[in-house]
Amino acid sequence: MKTISLESKIIVYESRDEIPSDILRLIGEAEEAAKRAYAAYSKFQVGAAILMNNGKVVTGSNQENAVYPCGLCAERTAAFAASALYPEVPFSRIAVTAINPVTPLKVPVSPCGSCRQVLYEYEQKFGQPIEVILSGQEGPVYHLRCIADLLPYTFHAGFLP
Ligand code: THU
Repeated sequence: MKTISLESKIIVYESRDEIPSDILRLIGEAEEAAKRAYAAYSKFQVGAAILMNNGKVVTGSNQENAVYPCGLCAERTAAFAASALYPEVPFSRIAVTAINPVTPLKVPVSPCGSCRQVLYEYEQKFGQPIEVILSGQEGPVYHLRCIADLLPYTFHAGFLP
């Protein structure tokens, strides 16, 4: 018997002053996207901004529905829009943030499992790591090397016939 360790490294920026300006700009785009969320039911507004290899930024926000499961998270809204607009362009980075209008979010938002899986698909498709930048309304900002670090031991196309 043996054990396998799965490691994921996270850079933690303790304050905004430490964050490189290009990353800060992408966080700003995600913050603006969060304000455009349609969060009629949860009131929790999430924004995502994807920087593509061609320099374009594609944003998304959560889109809710009276039939709750029909809604979609910000990350998938952005990822599907990015892939639909630029099907052959790899994703370089994604910034995700959220607004809790009742209790301001003091920790970085944490993407759900389905969004991690969807983003992993594009990481695999292009064979290029997608850096992940996660922030709250205040507090630390996390910077991960790739989606695989967010979703270790992942199901992928290689399992399929
Ligand atoms: N949500 C996102 O958009 N992204 C996440 O990573 C977590 C949750 C949305 C879905 C729903 O509209 C609301 O936040 C509450 O779950």
